[in-house]
Amino acid sequence: MTGTLPRTASVTRPAGDAKLHAPAAVRNRDAICDMLCTFAPQNGRALEIASGTGEHIVAFAAALPNLHWQPTEPDTPRRASIDAYVAEAGLQNVSPAIALDATAVGWHKTVPQNDLIFLANLLHLIPAASVRKLITEAALAMAPGGTLVLYGPFARDGVLTSEGDVQFDSALRAADPSIGYKATNDLTCWIGDAGLINVKVVEMPANNLSFIARKP
Ligand SMILES: C[S@@+](CC[C@H](N)C(=O)[O-])C[C@H]1O[C@@H](n2cnc3c(N)ncnc32)[C@H](O)[C@@H]1O
Repeated sequence: MTGTLPRTASVTRPAGDAKLHAPAAVRNRDAICDMLCTFAPQNGRALEIASGTGEHIVAFAAALPNLHWQPTEPDTPRRASIDAYVAEAGLQNVSPAIALDATAVGWHKTVPQNDLIFLANLLHLIPAASVRKLITEAALAMAPGGTLVLYGPFARDGVLTSEGDVQFDSALRAADPSIGYKATNDLTCWIGDAGLINVKVVEMPANNLSFIARKP
């Protein structure tokens, strides 16, 4: 992700101590949490890619207490924010945030095998080749039977279906022509190419989708 992205791509503001607040993360948190309670394994290891402020993972870890959660985030102030939210919530099932560039080749070797890998709101901000690397690495970082959940905005079979999506996608492409919304049919192929089984695509509020995939 570069510094030239439109401001709306990732809005955060200070929220006291090291905490940052992302209004979008709080808006979509409950719907994502409900979806995870339905499709995620109920115990084992969970890794979140691009945890952002940490406002998501504290809700997920409270709702799914028998999963042990590992937040990851490349940005240092955001890692401090994640750890601050976890400390404030007193959660025992969340490890300190670690730095992870999910598009780097080989990162799967640096983490234990996971029963769940979750990612929200990154795929539209990186190029297609980086998305493919991310999915390949995530598949390798999962235990057999593990679940991958990819949440965010997508172009349905390549078509943008709301005015807001058209505007956001075009602002992203104006900032960097290599990024923007990914097509659902491409995502399905890339998930399959990584050796995962496409289980379901779940409709989410605000025209977002969750891709659920499983490692055989
Ligand atoms: C739009 S924010 C989403 C944060 C959070 N998942 C949410 O939904 O609120 C995108 C996040 O991806 C992180 N990020 C950017 N490039 C990344 C990469 N290559 N690997 C992992 N995370 C990345 C950013 O630091 C930022 O926190």
